[in-house]
Amino acid sequence: MHENDGPVTPAGGDDASSGAAPDGGAGPDSTATDDAGLLALLRAAPVLAGPLPEFDPDGAPDTPGPLLAAWLRQALADGVPEPHVMTLATAAADGTPSARVLMLRGIDTAACAVDFASDAASRKGRDLAENPRAALTWYWPAQGRQIRLSGRVHVLDTETARRDFLGRSPASRAAGFTGSMSGTLTGAMAYERARAEAEALVAAEPGRVPDGHTVYRLRAQEAEFFQADPGRFHVRLRYAREDEAAGAREREGGRDDAGGPGAAGWTRTLLWP
Ligand SMILES: Cc1cc2nc3c(=O)[nH]c(=O)nc-3n(C[C@H](O)[C@H](O)[C@H](O)COP(=O)(O)O)c2cc1C
Repeated sequence: MHENDGPVTPAGGDDASSGAAPDGGAGPDSTATDDAGLLALLRAAPVLAGPLPEFDPDGAPDTPGPLLAAWLRQALADGVPEPHVMTLATAAADGTPSARVLMLRGIDTAACAVDFASDAASRKGRDLAENPRAALTWYWPAQGRQIRLSGRVHVLDTETARRDFLGRSPASRAAGFTGSMSGTLTGAMAYERARAEAEALVAAEPGRVPDGHTVYRLRAQEAEFFQADPGRFHVRLRYAREDEAAGAREREGGRDDAGGPGAAGWTRTLLWP
């Protein structure tokens, strides 16, 4: 169990006794006291309270793409906010990790592949150029659902990048021409000037695409579906492409009791939550 199931301080119960100063703490001990108060408030926040949907892994499809699509559709139907926003984790060649949220820009259910777009010169773009492996995660608290895809990432063709960019609103396209993503911004003036120039450029040349605009495709080698349960009887189902399945089993110590080798080269495995 990863979430805290232990006793908690009632939310808002003893903020005054924490000694928190209105400005965030002045004395040498106040920061630690504030941290303790903050932690108490966080631990009192409900987690996985439910009701949550049930997930029967025996009824899951043989391949992960249709399950990914079904969970995304269910998230939309249930009104999950921004279900197409996901966290992308990358690592530089030296292993330094980083993660950020971005938007899903394409999906290939049959291939279990997901597209996202960014600037090739951004930190993530540089990471992917050095090390084309990444993970994508989604977490939808109202459903207690988490999905993780991991695998190799490759760059899609420039026509795809062009269509992706030109399909955006003028404001979004102007943002794509403003400054250089992940570079240092020297101040508000520079930002305003760059933005005004970008807006003028988009108005004058509506068909222009920034040089670095890139659509990336992550083809899942592993896909994992986590369905939380309010009683903490969580379910984790992992799919691995058969060529990678042996290595993945070894890494995580899972059991092949969810159906064994499936269709189209995927193995399904239940994992201890
Ligand atoms: C809701 C949301 C959606 C975002 N979508 C994208 C996106 O589709 N592509 C992108 O490059 N950055 C997107 N961003 C910004 C990224 O989170 C990140 O700040 C930026 O890409 C720079 O990341 P990097 O320095 O790690 O490369 C989004 C941010 C938010 C909050």
